[in-house]
Amino acid sequence: MAKKKIRTPEKSDTPRQDAFEAAWEKFKPLVPEDELSAIEASFSRPLERAFRINPQKITAQDVETIACRYGWQTDPVVFCPEGYKIRAGEISPGQTVEHRTGQYYIQDSASMLPGVLFSSEIMAQRPLILDMAASPGGKTTHLCARSGDKGLILANDSSPSRIGALKNVLKKWGVLSHLVTAFPGENFGNWYPETFDLILLDAPCSMQSLVSIESHPLRPITEREEEALAQRQTALLDSALKALKPGGQVVYSTCTLSVQEDEAVVNQMIKRYGNLIQVENANKLIPHPAPGVTRAGDQIFDDSLAGTLRFWPHRYDTAGFYAALIWKKEAFGTSNTELPNRAWEKSGFSELGRSSRQDILDWFADQFHCELETCLTESEAVLWQRGNEVWALPERYLSTFSDIPCKSAGMRLATAASGGGWIPDDDWVARFFPVFTNQLFRLDDGQTAAWLRGEDLRLESGYPKGSILLMIDDFGVFLGCGRVGGEKIRNFNK
Ligand SMILES: C[S@@+](CC[C@H](N)C(=O)[O-])C[C@H]1O[C@@H](n2cnc3c(N)ncnc32)[C@H](O)[C@@H]1O
Repeated sequence: MAKKKIRTPEKSDTPRQDAFEAAWEKFKPLVPEDELSAIEASFSRPLERAFRINPQKITAQDVETIACRYGWQTDPVVFCPEGYKIRAGEISPGQTVEHRTGQYYIQDSASMLPGVLFSSEIMAQRPLILDMAASPGGKTTHLCARSGDKGLILANDSSPSRIGALKNVLKKWGVLSHLVTAFPGENFGNWYPETFDLILLDAPCSMQSLVSIESHPLRPITEREEEALAQRQTALLDSALKALKPGGQVVYSTCTLSVQEDEAVVNQMIKRYGNLIQVENANKLIPHPAPGVTRAGDQIFDDSLAGTLRFWPHRYDTAGFYAALIWKKEAFGTSNTELPNRAWEKSGFSELGRSSRQDILDWFADQFHCELETCLTESEAVLWQRGNEVWALPERYLSTFSDIPCKSAGMRLATAASGGGWIPDDDWVARFFPVFTNQLFRLDDGQTAAWLRGEDLRLESGYPKGSILLMIDDFGVFLGCGRVGGEKIRNFNK
């Protein structure tokens, strides 16, 4: 069976059990009376695993094939068209080739909420998106999916140690139109006032979700800690609202049910900006309402806070979660402060000359019968060179953000092979796989298992030395590029 997550801590896990009891005691008075028994019943149910598909790679129909392949019984996540819960199944969703090649992302279904709230209309207009606290990048991949990887996403996280994970997730998903930065989100409001069409602030929080799972273990939280978090969240949300264009939307979300970190933070912004912003009634965007609170003890919040979303665990059978959708009606007139600057020359990129560019496009067309030009044009990306690598960089990154020190941008297309030709990047091929129609090399189950272990494979018949083969399994899933060397296909992923 796919491992289900235990929702509440084991009785023997005293610290987590204590943290759970303390949180429940605090939150219980906020739960509407007629929902108390339902929430209490939910505590003993395991949390179903869930995943969200990558629409740049697969469709809802492919989910049926994948579910059949691994013996999963799936149910849709009712508020997220790209999301599925696994009710039962033999194989863990983390152990499949589809997961390995970024066809879906494993994510608690509550975390699928922020991505669905943004306006589809704005998403369709190649938006400029800021994901202010992005690592490890689960929600960034959702923003990429919803915008069709068109426009540009600036994925930021202030923690240098979490940037590697963010880069890996975006690489595996195949996000081309993006850059990654590592600054305190508090800066963006003054660095880029009224700039972004959409901003996600999935804020650092106390994780009091009433569910104890490995990635979000419950722990005791002091009032002082909660206050310090609320202060940081307020500063971050203020920065997000400043960085937003009039007419744009911010989603503020947390995986805590603490009112101090949720409704109270949004209420501060209403007090500060009054009619310049509006909290949208996000309950209209989901099948059944999950209203935020407007009273907590002696605190009374603006009525519009009832339009925010408070996912008590029983409401959608998820971990506890909170989200608010805020629309900026008018400019704040924030004046900008100077940005940190890195001269573009220091990035190490140099422009590809016209004939080198054409040579690469011709090589890909010759080898794989694929039209790279179309992929680049649709993604509004251009080819640049760095050392012996060729990268596709988003035009909008080059025109708007090329001077900000960044940790990565765009996608690597290929690395020059010793002896001539190119080694295409596996993530690039996986992202644009349907256009690669030549040099496909189908493996049987035994060969697939060996390939996934990083082994070279024996080659019996005639490909010229140095040719690149695109290895696929019996279901046609791309597994990576191999290079012919004598009687072997060399595996790059050893
Ligand atoms: C809830 S996690 C984000 C999860 C992420 N959105 C996802 O879905 O994968 C919050 C993130 O905020 C980052 N963070 C903390 N303080 C920050 C700040 N002042 N500015 C920007 N990021 C911050 C943390 O490093 C952490 O990665």
